Amino acid sequence: MRPQWDAKAEKWDDGLPQSDLFAELLETIMEAVAPDRDEVALDLGAGTGFLAIPIAQRTRRTYAVDHSPAMLQKLAQHVCESGVHLWAAEMDLERSSLPSPWTSSFRTMPCIT
Ligand SMILES: C[S@@+](CC[C@H](N)C(=O)[O-])C[C@H]1O[C@@H](n2cnc3c(N)ncnc32)[C@H](O)[C@@H]1O
Repeated sequence: MRPQWDAKAEKWDDGLPQSDLFAELLETIMEAVAPDRDEVALDLGAGTGFLAIPIAQRTRRTYAVDHSPAMLQKLAQHVCESGVHLWAAEMDLERSSLPSPWTSSFRTMPCIT
């Protein structure tokens, strides 16, 4: 699957993230999660940062995990452009376990597939 996501990375931002549906989705998620300045967030499958960057703007620290190097490269560009601080890691969630502090530390788990 990783090569497929790598192949989508270049044009990913021009697709769904530009749609009204995704704008609505972002608003709904931000309202539901209501990230707080004191909190730490973890975005699994963060892609180019559609959620991770707005969340990073509102939290103390945000981690972004993705298995696609090309998605992570785009994410790095957006992080630079937006001036947020975000810790990103390349990890295949089907093959690796999350570090143990991450498995017990989060209060909300929105999921988009
Ligand atoms: C539908 S995209 C969503 C990206 C981002 N959350 C967004 O809303 O724009 C799914 C993302 O999950 C990543 N992903 C899929 N399977 C993964 C896995 N096994 N481990 C880590 N990341 C994965 C893909 O590389 C892709 O960036």
